[in-house]
Amino acid sequence: MEVIARGAEAVLYLSDGMVVKHRIRKSYRSPELDEMLRTTRTRREARLLALAKRAGVPAPVVLDVDPEEKKLCMSYIPGEKLSRAVGGMDEESLRAVFRLAGELAGRLHRRGVIHGDLTTSNMLLSGEKLYFIDFGLGEVSSSLEAAGTDLLVFRKCVRSTHFQHEELILESFFSGYRSSFEQAEQAMERMLSIERRGRYFEHRG
Ligand SMILES: Nc1ncnc2c1ncn2[C@@H]1O[C@H](COP(=O)(O)OP(=O)(O)O)[C@@H](O)[C@H]1O
Ligand SMILES: [Mg+2]
Repeated sequence: MEVIARGAEAVLYLSDGMVVKHRIRKSYRSPELDEMLRTTRTRREARLLALAKRAGVPAPVVLDVDPEEKKLCMSYIPGEKLSRAVGGMDEESLRAVFRLAGELAGRLHRRGVIHGDLTTSNMLLSGEKLYFIDFGLGEVSSSLEAAGTDLLVFRKCVRSTHFQHEELILESFFSGYRSSFEQAEQAMERMLSIERRGRYFEHRG
C-alpha cells in the first residue's frame, strides 16, 4: 500500500493501481458529527465526480464507493497538481491551461455542478488534459450565488498562490469560463458582490 497524499481530511493510497481516498476520523469533531460528515462527503464526492464527467469535465472514474467505510475508489490519474506545474510553465502554456480550466469550470456550472473547493491543488495536469478532483465539498445547484462562490474561491487561490501571474491567469480563466457558460457574466458579477459583502463584514467584524 503506497500512500500518495495525506490531506486534512483523508489519506489517499494506491491499491492495485487504483486510488483509494479514505476519510479518516477527526478527533476535534464530535463522533456523531464526524461520522456524518465523512459519510456524506464520501457519497457526495462519488456522485459529483460522475456528474462532472457527464458534463464533459475530465475526472477520475469512480470504481467503488463504501460510505460506511468512508472509502472512495477511483482511477489513478498520472500527472501533476496544477498548483505545482505553474512554476515551470511559460506564458503561452499558462494562458492555454488556465483558459482550459475556465472552460471546464463553465461546463460544470452550466450543468449546475458546484465544485466547492475550486483551487489549483484540485486540478491535475496530465499531458494536455486537465482533470478536476476533490469534489467532497461540492453540491448540485443552479444558483448564481453558488457559482459566484466557486469563482471567488478560485480567485482567492490565484491571488494567494500564483500572484506573480495573477492577471494573466484570471484573464485566461474567465475567457474560458465565458466560452462555455451562458450565465458567466452574471456569475462573475455575483463573485464580485460576494467579495464586497465579505469585505464589509470583515471590516465590521
Ligand atoms: N485520482 C487521482 N489520481 C492521482 N492522484 C490523485 C487522485 N486523487 C487525488 N490525488 C492526489 O491526492 C491529493 C489529495 O487528494 P484530494 O482529493 O484533493 O484530497 P484532499 O481533500 O485531501 O485535498 C491530490 O492533490 C492529488 O495529488
Ligand atoms: Mg484537495
